[in-house]
Amino acid sequence: MRLDRYLANLKYGTRNEITKKIKSKKVTVNGNIETDSRYKVDTLNDKVTIEGIEVFYKETVLIMLNKPSGVISANKDGLHETVLDLIGEPYNRFELRIAGRLDIDTEGLILLTNDGKLLHKIISPNKDVYKKYYVKVESKFDSSKLLKEFQINDGRDLPFTPLLPKVEQISDDEFYLSIKEGKFHQVKRMVEHFNNKVIYLKRVSIGNIELDESLEKGRYREVLDYNI
Ligand code: URA
Repeated sequence: MRLDRYLANLKYGTRNEITKKIKSKKVTVNGNIETDSRYKVDTLNDKVTIEGIEVFYKETVLIMLNKPSGVISANKDGLHETVLDLIGEPYNRFELRIAGRLDIDTEGLILLTNDGKLLHKIISPNKDVYKKYYVKVESKFDSSKLLKEFQINDGRDLPFTPLLPKVEQISDDEFYLSIKEGKFHQVKRMVEHFNNKVIYLKRVSIGNIELDESLEKGRYREVLDYNI
């Protein structure tokens, strides 16, 4: 990839601004000043700096974030803080997209990636990637009820029949629910179908990626070993 494009993709400025910086000797490659914007960066091996700062680059990044309640899973929102607002250097330089949104009051695992194929794999219901939720409900609930086919027809959007989930009862009013889809308010609506109400919801895993419980709410880290 050309040096100017590489740096522009990482939001170090517009192509023009970057060309100027390169010309004015503010960019080095492997310790040597590089003044040619057309230099082909070896993205795996070259060490690039701009204004003395080493550039962090990877083709694919996957980030796990422990989403707190009150933060929304959207790209930009004038009103609320978004999960992307929580991401700092160097990951905020990547075009991160949210692999499966959570409601404002839902907590737990959010995955963010710049890799479109990986994103599709995570969110497509056909790919057998289960999203596991810890669910606490208002009153006693036998989660095995969710294992029989039923249709949600609550008028919030088109009626749908949830794909067969997995359940693990924890106590009278707590259970784990694993679903492959991510329809609007899906867990809450599945519970409401049986005249109960979710009072706390947290996503604990996506496929084989489990939320790192040592991450405080609002904190994130890169996921290096994954196999979705
Ligand atoms: N289901 C819900 O109802 N809400 C979420 O945030 C995620 C799944």
